Amino acid sequence: MFLKAVLRTAALIPFLYNAASAQTACNNSPSLCNRAYNNITHLGAHDSPFLRDKSTSFSTSGNQYYDSPTQLDSGVRLLTAQVHKNGNSSTGASQWHLCHTNCGLLDMGTLSNWLGTIKTWMDNNPNDVVTILLVNSDNASPAELGSEFKTAGIDKYAYTPPSLSSVPKQWPTLQSLISNNTRLMTFVASLSTPSSDYPWLMDEFTFIFENDFNNQSPTDYQCTPARPTSLNNSTSSAASSGRMFLMNHFLYNTGLFGIQTPNSDYANITNAQTGVGSLGEQLTKCTAVYNKPPTFTIVDFTNMGPAMESVDKANGVSGATGRRTLPTVALNEKVSGGPQTRGSVLAVVVAVVVAVAFGS
Ligand SMILES: *[C@@H]1O[C@H](CO)[C@@H](O)[C@H](O)[C@H]1NC(C)=O
Ligand SMILES: *[C@@H]1O[C@H](CO)[C@@H](O)[C@H](O)[C@H]1NC(C)=O
Ligand SMILES: *[C@@H]1O[C@H](CO)[C@@H](O)[C@H](O)[C@H]1NC(C)=O
Ligand SMILES: *[C@@H]1O[C@H](CO)[C@@H](O)[C@H](O)[C@H]1NC(C)=O
Ligand SMILES: *[C@@H]1O[C@H](CO)[C@@H](O)[C@H](O)[C@H]1NC(C)=O
Ligand SMILES: *[C@@H]1O[C@H](CO)[C@@H](O)[C@H](O)[C@H]1NC(C)=O
Repeated sequence: MFLKAVLRTAALIPFLYNAASAQTACNNSPSLCNRAYNNITHLGAHDSPFLRDKSTSFSTSGNQYYDSPTQLDSGVRLLTAQVHKNGNSSTGASQWHLCHTNCGLLDMGTLSNWLGTIKTWMDNNPNDVVTILLVNSDNASPAELGSEFKTAGIDKYAYTPPSLSSVPKQWPTLQSLISNNTRLMTFVASLSTPSSDYPWLMDEFTFIFENDFNNQSPTDYQCTPARPTSLNNSTSSAASSGRMFLMNHFLYNTGLFGIQTPNSDYANITNAQTGVGSLGEQLTKCTAVYNKPPTFTIVDFTNMGPAMESVDKANGVSGATGRRTLPTVALNEKVSGGPQTRGSVLAVVVAVVVAVAFGS
């Protein structure tokens, strides 16, 4: 009787073990845990904090329909943002803000507030590696940027590379970043003088190269390196430099006075798996050029496509777990902002009817 119980329990062990290991996903899939950081494709939200939703009155400068934590929920693992110096309107003191091109156009608040929302997300998602790429528009020093990370408390997750001036021989696996709880990779474009006081702030172009980001037609996308310019537009120089490839894949419209705005009309094809200028086809093209998929690709309107499908394909991932599925439609005044529910659509309709009725 006793022996039977022991045998029965022992027979269960493999099942229990499988159940436990099946749950251990890294960046939404167990198949990514043992891959090196640079040997997977990370989906990035270009200009992640710049929203085109109710909060910005659907600003045409906005690049994303959902906020950064929601992007992360949906599988995005790289967030880019522009950092600008801006005076506090009441005290006049300088602060580091997230602004689109300039702070008069679209100001999404302080860098530290935004980093705080990402820190909270990382607290709640301990098996995920997140990358932040900051465009250093007003040449903030490592100390100025670093103190924003400290204020947000997110520096505790920051990964420090072996050297700030050269590409490591090997990047760690996602699992080792997760085990060490150094799950935040931070790149800055650019840091002219990286600092050993903030050894986790990495100069982007020391470690990464990019294709041209300024594309206005779906046939414009290139795989050749545009930055750093020292690579002389040469794919072989880029590959032999050991830098990781960040593939820009978003379209601009050029309007009056040459002002560029993210192209939302074509986003359902830009972010799709197939079609002229689609993410899926461009990933295939650049994968052939470099003999491996890009390490990062950044897109506008990440929910469209959805872009995640092409990235899963590049990673050989199927059946990803723990993701939130977002609607693959554009948000505008008519559709309202935020995830749709009958209640919120009704509320908007009522609000619009009331506003029209009262002429406000
Ligand atoms: C990258 O990952 C793929 C898929 O698991 C694997 O086949 C390949 O050997 C890896 N390459 C390197 C250099 O780690
Ligand atoms: C401006 O500074 C005041 C005082 O420090 C602070 O309470 C306020 O939040 C700041 N405004 C912004 C937009 O950061
Ligand atoms: C993890 O931490 C250990 C001990 O500090 C260190 O030897 C190892 O290099 C770290 N791994 C990574 C990927 O940083
Ligand atoms: C780029 O071209 C310059 C001038 O011809 C040369 O000195 C340099 O080595 C080249 N860089 C690479 C990475 O090929
Ligand atoms: C790279 O290509 C661009 C666009 O074709 C060109 O303007 C630039 O001069 C080229 N740079 C080098 C170093 O060859
Ligand atoms: C993309 O959206 C446009 C409307 O904005 C629609 O006409 C078109 O059919 C859509 N294409 C695909 C492939 O979903």
